[in-house]
Amino acid sequence: ANALRIGLAGLGTVGTGVIQLIEENSALIARRAGRPIIITAVTARDRTKDRGVDLTPYRWVDDMGELATAADVDVVVELVGGSDGPALTLARETIGAGRALVTANKAMIAHHGAELGALADAKGAPLKFEAAVAGGIPVIQGLRDGAAANRIDRVYGILNGTCNFILSAMERDGRDFTDVLADAQAKGFAEADPSFDIDGVDAAHKLSILASLSFGAEIDFAGVDIRGIRKIIAADIAQAQALGYRIRLIGLAEVDGENGGASLFQRVQPCLVPLDHPLANVTGATNAVVAEGNFSGRLLFQGAGAGDRPTASAVVADLVDIARKETGPAFSIPTTELEKLPRATAAHR
Ligand code: NDP
Ligand code: HSE
Repeated sequence: ANALRIGLAGLGTVGTGVIQLIEENSALIARRAGRPIIITAVTARDRTKDRGVDLTPYRWVDDMGELATAADVDVVVELVGGSDGPALTLARETIGAGRALVTANKAMIAHHGAELGALADAKGAPLKFEAAVAGGIPVIQGLRDGAAANRIDRVYGILNGTCNFILSAMERDGRDFTDVLADAQAKGFAEADPSFDIDGVDAAHKLSILASLSFGAEIDFAGVDIRGIRKIIAADIAQAQALGYRIRLIGLAEVDGENGGASLFQRVQPCLVPLDHPLANVTGATNAVVAEGNFSGRLLFQGAGAGDRPTASAVVADLVDIARKETGPAFSIPTTELEKLPRATAAHR
């Protein structure tokens, strides 16, 4: 009765996780959402691939774009990936048709979030992307809603599960970088192009989204100063440990100054974290985000940052929100009111 009907684009790690979650927890989800959430149509590149899930209950769509206007779809879930190309076309067409879009695609939001957010706000179409930052951690909702009454001047954390998995395995077992990367890929943590993970680009995508939500600023992905973990070797990790530190890839964003004089600093880089700092004890594909609110104080969000089940949890949480009609502007304030902050560079600090 009155089910929310999903058109699912992308049936890889996250897409199959979403199918499993919606099937396994269907009764619980229906109670919490106030109505059933059902998948009606699905699409991916290869119809013949065995994905370990039964696709026979769903209508297969050859042309992904069809989901944007299909009569049996209320919400399109985009789990294809890529900042441009078919994912972006689908997003534009879906929102342009006044239909809700849920995505885990941080690359697309980091590059085109302003355009898609403005279109969504103008059309009154929900645009939700909880899964785009920090996998299963409800950090978007935490910042957008939970911390909505606070001024936040700094947000930072471990934003890439693959890098944290690699660094933790290197420090635990003294293993080689490339060997551990293959493990992270096999577990479905890494991006289709894993250089996005190890070169810090994926963490930068997420940081730019967090900064926008935290500071009410336009997303400025190009303004993130990025260094990844490619050059870190086992000896660096051993030496850091001997001195009482762990190496973690940290993304940090801050606003300096107020009242028209504010500037935005954003950087992703490997950092030496003291062993007694909470971020030093975040291991494996776990992520952790710290936000400092002027009334809430320091908030720490921690949990699984990648993988099929945690990421599916975030995607379906967005669907529950849409089913309940608990949606608002795509970002913490209407997209047209986001401030364009000048960049502060390391040299200014
Ligand atoms: P996968 O590579 O596992 O899956 C991608 C899916 O998209 C595949 O089913 C693929 O089809 C389909 N696809 C790709 N290109 C096309 C195309 N041109 N036309 C139709 N279908 C296409 O990716 P993930 O599931 O890992 O990631 C999906 C999204 O979620 C990405 O944006 C990623 O950044 C994000 N994300 C991933 C997380 C993770 O832990 N993996 C965590 C958080 C976010 P086929 O299978 O037939 O090749
Ligand atoms: N490749 C990403 C990571 C997936 O390892 O964190 C989760 O966004």
